[in-house]
Amino acid sequence: MVQDQSHRLPPVFVALDMAQAEVEPMLDRLEGLNLGLKVGMELFYQTGPDFVRQLAEWGPVFLDLKLHDIPNTVASAAARIADLGVRLTTVHASGGRAMLEGLAALERPDFRFLAVTVLTSADRAELDGLGIAKPDLGEHARHLFRLASDCGLGGFVCSPQEVAALRALRDDALFVTPGVRPAGAARDDQTRIATPADAMARGASSLVIGRPITRAADPRAAAEAILAEIDGHG
Ligand code: C5P
Repeated sequence: MVQDQSHRLPPVFVALDMAQAEVEPMLDRLEGLNLGLKVGMELFYQTGPDFVRQLAEWGPVFLDLKLHDIPNTVASAAARIADLGVRLTTVHASGGRAMLEGLAALERPDFRFLAVTVLTSADRAELDGLGIAKPDLGEHARHLFRLASDCGLGGFVCSPQEVAALRALRDDALFVTPGVRPAGAARDDQTRIATPADAMARGASSLVIGRPITRAADPRAAAEAILAEIDGHG
């Protein structure tokens, strides 16, 4: 689905991996910048849908709940999520064809799904444990990418390492990429990283960035520097 200008996503979603009490002061510091907010399971299960609705008033929200269940349950849950006013939500591509096809019908210009292929925490041993015989993780990820794509979904979460190869397979897709660190920033627990400008140059549509902004001494200055870096390389 092609986005018109009014439904453009911000270049950066700030990962709000923090306690509820810390969110409001953080948003006050980031007010007015071209940023979205990523809410994961940890914050959502502390705070719930009303809080997400409030966040959606502040800016575009990416609600990362990674749905995976029978098609009817996922479609019903996804419709409730759409009612929260969020712009993006995640589903596991491994949920399969029927689940994914049901979701494509629920997409709107202002509400889209991002398919998760293989979690970056997985390794070869994990695939073996799941009984997946693909020779490597990359091939399994591409298989799930094609499945979700064939089922009508055009949004994906992927690492900066994968994004160029996936962009080459599908130029019109939306790729949202975590694992981003400005040059010189702490890596934290991220191993396969790229700078914001590199991730965008490789084909990311939007970036998810948490601690380099939220744990910076001056989160606003950190966010402004990242936005300026991307703008300069856009
Ligand atoms: O603080 P940091 O920038 O590392 O935050 C990245 C965010 O993206 C976190 O919310 C993390 O859970 C999420 N994420 C990730 N790598 C993935 C999938 C999600 O870092 N493969």
